[in-house]
Amino acid sequence: MTVTTAPITPETGIQYTGLHGADLVDPAVARELRTALETHGVVVCREADVDDAELVALSRMLGEVVVAPIGGDTTHPEISAVTLDPTKSDLASYRRSTFYWHIDGTNDAVPQKATLLTAREVAEDGGDTEFANTYAAYDALPDDEKQRIASLRVVHSFKASQLLVTPDPTAKELAAWERVPAREHPLVWTRSTGRKSLLVGATTDHIVGMPADESRALLDHYLDWATQPRFTVRHSWRRGDLVIWDNTGMLHRALPYQPTSRRLMHRTTLIGEEAVA
Ligand code: OGA
Ligand code: MN
Repeated sequence: MTVTTAPITPETGIQYTGLHGADLVDPAVARELRTALETHGVVVCREADVDDAELVALSRMLGEVVVAPIGGDTTHPEISAVTLDPTKSDLASYRRSTFYWHIDGTNDAVPQKATLLTAREVAEDGGDTEFANTYAAYDALPDDEKQRIASLRVVHSFKASQLLVTPDPTAKELAAWERVPAREHPLVWTRSTGRKSLLVGATTDHIVGMPADESRALLDHYLDWATQPRFTVRHSWRRGDLVIWDNTGMLHRALPYQPTSRRLMHRTTLIGEEAVA
């Protein structure tokens, strides 16, 4: 096999070509991809064409794999289908929230470490995926601003993310969203290695102890800051592509596609290895 690699931007993303199917189910390849994930945040394997068993096997070599609580596949409970087609996934009606910049699992104490997404069918229109590097976004802040925000704490809620999709919910919808417990995190996530990132995205509800309008403005400001073109990369899918991202550091979103689109992704998720601190 001839494998070539190319960085996507100097700060974010690396693309591999020439890795296909069973090539990826190899401890040495998995080690390399894990390191690449730490360095580049987003790892693209062009036309990797992994089947479901290979996707699960590779995921297990990269970390501990989440068993999808709902919407999991019957033969491979680790795999969930990401699609807007309700006949293909019980979660289809929630997937429109992927159109907004987010980090997965921000309502959990330990957000998921990484996500693997492979394209079974691509959209005719739209449906690219964008990533924003929140380590780079933090690093680029002026020092005095880093100090000013160092102790801010943010409440994340499922409700905040759903209100973006459905701004006028029914009382029943609202009650269902509010049953999902909210979670408080620092605005700046400091890893045990000392590396820091901005923890923002669709689930930010409010900053603790700040008036609502000021809090909203600041959260919008930091999301806009982190998602400037200089911190982002965009992936245009071909069928068979596999993209892996560091979910703790990469905000991501799908660019809108039609509810009738055939776009279908198979996804696995790795359990988080570090609580937010
Ligand atoms: C996800 C997600 C983006 C996409 O599966 O968590 O955000 O492009 N997907 O489908
Ligand atoms: Mn997501």
